Amino acid sequence: MKKILITGGAGYIASHTNLELLKGDFELVLIDNFCNSCAESIKRIEELSGRTVKFHQINLMDTQALDAVFTLEPDIDSVIHFAALKAVGESVEIPLAYYTNNITGSLNLYQAMKNHGVRKIVFSSSATVYGDPVTIPVTENAPVQATNPYGQTKAMMEQILIDTAHAENWDIAILRYFNPVGAHESGRIGEDPSYPNNLLPFVSQVAAGIREKVVIFGDDWDTPDGTGVRDYIHVVDLAKAHVKSIEKLASSKGVHIYNIGTGRGYSVLEMVKAFEDACGHSIAYQVGPRRSGDIAEVTGDTNKAEAELGWTAELGLKHMVDSAWKWQSMNPNGYKKISTS
Ligand code: UFG
Repeated sequence: MKKILITGGAGYIASHTNLELLKGDFELVLIDNFCNSCAESIKRIEELSGRTVKFHQINLMDTQALDAVFTLEPDIDSVIHFAALKAVGESVEIPLAYYTNNITGSLNLYQAMKNHGVRKIVFSSSATVYGDPVTIPVTENAPVQATNPYGQTKAMMEQILIDTAHAENWDIAILRYFNPVGAHESGRIGEDPSYPNNLLPFVSQVAAGIREKVVIFGDDWDTPDGTGVRDYIHVVDLAKAHVKSIEKLASSKGVHIYNIGTGRGYSVLEMVKAFEDACGHSIAYQVGPRRSGDIAEVTGDTNKAEAELGWTAELGLKHMVDSAWKWQSMNPNGYKKISTS
């Protein structure tokens, strides 16, 4: 059984990836500092999979604690590195915190891997590294030109890994996610935002009556209905791409970079309408000004992932919104217990 270390192991994408890995011949060691996640997701992963995982509550800034995990688990085969601060707007307000946490945390992880002879890693990157691409669907060869500190940290974490892979003979897969949405079909794990930064968690909370209305950030973009277009991908499809990547690194050396999306774009209005169908009632919205830093449209060319990983997104828009609504309905407070007092 291959042992995989998962950083940020209690988070949204990690929890779905863990479940997919636990269907196979993998043993998991999770680390997380719970700055943006909670232990309940780990408990639910164990319940859903019928398996146990190892867990260490540590911060990647704590080099001694990190080293101790590698010492305790000497047979780690590979790492999946999810841990990072991830809110674009916040990264503009507190860039130093983002650079410190994401870059130093990653450097510490890569150094610990080197110290302990672990040379395989799947890195959680983002389509945000493309900034506002000239051609869409964007391919992996497009220039990296992130436009905000969060995106810059992802681009830097990629570059540090690529340089290390070349110098140290590491085998790495960099996955550039488009817009992950949806939840596990059980409704037991999903995205648990304290304050939603992204469209679908916000729409879910409006549909549930937690928030009054969705503000659409501009309807004067150069798109068919004037609202922003994105390549939304079901988080379970995204999770499966990680399993394929781990399998790929077992036989394929060097640096691999893949777009992980569907290649199909939906507008904000299309997403709101699809969510209305999922929840069975109308969702209040109003058009507001454009959000600073937004772009009109981005979709990903996923041919490379399909050809080299044998992976393709299978779950369409209906699965995305239905599962997001199921998660929202079953967990109105996210992973927090509803107070009965
Ligand atoms: N939007 C609204 N109202 C909202 C929230 C979003 O109209 O309340 C619109 C945005 O303007 C955009 C679309 O919905 O057109 C999607 O916005 P998100 O904030 O959900 O996602 P982004 O595409 O801006 O960014 C997301 C992640 C990034 C990641 C990027 C990859 O937040 O971390 O996708 O493309 F890098």
